[in-house]
Amino acid sequence: MRALCWHDVNDLRVRSVPDPEIVNPRDVVLRVTMTTPCGSDLHFIDGYLPTMREGDVIGHEFMGEVVETGRKVEDVSAGDRVVVPSFIGCGSCGYCRDDLWSLCDNTNPNAELQEPILGDTTAGIYGYTHAFGGYAGSHAEYVRVPHADENCFHVPDELEAEQALFASDAWATGYMGADFCDIRDGDTVAVWGCGGVGLMAQHSAALMGAERVIGIDRFPERLRAARNEAGSETIDYTAVDSVVDTLKEMTGGRGPDACIDAVGMEAHGTGIEYAYDRAKQSLRLHTDRGTALRQAIRACKKGGTLSILGVYGLLDKFPMGVVMNKGLTVRTAQQYGQRYVPELLEYAAEGDLDPSYLATHERSLEEGPAAYDMFKHKEDGCIRPVLTP
Ligand SMILES: NC(=O)c1ccc[n+]([C@@H]2O[C@H](COP(=O)([O-])OP(=O)(O)OC[C@H]3O[C@@H](n4cnc5c(N)ncnc54)[C@H](O)[C@@H]3O)[C@@H](O)[C@H]2O)c1
Ligand SMILES: [Zn+2]
Ligand SMILES: [Zn+2]
Repeated sequence: MRALCWHDVNDLRVRSVPDPEIVNPRDVVLRVTMTTPCGSDLHFIDGYLPTMREGDVIGHEFMGEVVETGRKVEDVSAGDRVVVPSFIGCGSCGYCRDDLWSLCDNTNPNAELQEPILGDTTAGIYGYTHAFGGYAGSHAEYVRVPHADENCFHVPDELEAEQALFASDAWATGYMGADFCDIRDGDTVAVWGCGGVGLMAQHSAALMGAERVIGIDRFPERLRAARNEAGSETIDYTAVDSVVDTLKEMTGGRGPDACIDAVGMEAHGTGIEYAYDRAKQSLRLHTDRGTALRQAIRACKKGGTLSILGVYGLLDKFPMGVVMNKGLTVRTAQQYGQRYVPELLEYAAEGDLDPSYLATHERSLEEGPAAYDMFKHKEDGCIRPVLTP
């Protein structure tokens, strides 16, 4: 089959690779009908996440049609249209049973590669480094889905593909980030980043009853999507002297009740702190540029909630004293997709939230490298390209 593969840092290629097969009786094989790059992919494309190998099939946000089922699969049949969360759960360990699916103890066969860096192992994830399991990804004609009964969610017939696809990752992640904020009526929630994850966090926060949602970014089309689609107020961080001061002014001096970081380790910024982060990151003296997260910590109201969705490694200059003295509650995780997908598909079916506006460009698999380039550089108004293998 054809697949989009990692060849080297900033070098993706479409290649012919072996078709996936059922290796465990609980597996299914899907024909991938739609898949999309995620901001997390940029971290290993840019060389900040180690343990990619030449020829690895990338991609972890996808949906498809079941073409083959293992003999112990019960709830999924050939021909079913399903969406699949990016982290793989086993469904039977204590973490999966507690609905903390990305913490699954059983689905990362390469835990020994991850534990020295992250302490304990996460679940495995498709197409996202060997330290995270070494599974083949979804930017391919076919993909193997382990523990299919736990990881395949039927897509209602009335939904278009773009309405279901993002439940796999961007929407589930944004929704989880808003859920972490325990939003009460009247709350103000600020969200750094208006990419797929940040927009879904904003949309979800509004759905959960936030009175005001404020989206922060610098790309006009993303800020426009935040206003027009998610109903947010927006801040262009390149147009203000200080994001923190602007947020304080907008909230009577207190700061937002909750702050969500949907930017992560490749934050862009202005000023000397950004120059410092960039220099240290390129010298591999630390892994993260923390501009957005530091601002979120400083802006958040006393006693507020900091919800971190952006991916980080070993962040430098983390103002723990501010977190501690302001009594912030920190919530963070890789997404618990399996917990949220059923309610997201219901929201979509009932018309409460239609995430299809994230899909700004449709491309073939063969056009994958160029689509990634456009996504990475935020060209041509791209929020998410969708690939249709
Ligand atoms: N926790 C999870 O399970 C999970 C899942 C998916 C993605 N992520 C992470 O979420 C983050 C966002 O993903 P995405 O797909 O939306 O990526 P994206 O690249 O499309 O969007 C990131 C946005 O952040 C903006 N940004 C950069 N610096 C900023 C700053 N200082 N202030 C405000 N905005 C800034 C960029 O302009 C961009 O629009 C990434 O770090 C990704 O790894 C986490
Ligand atoms: Zn992702
Ligand atoms: Zn598990």
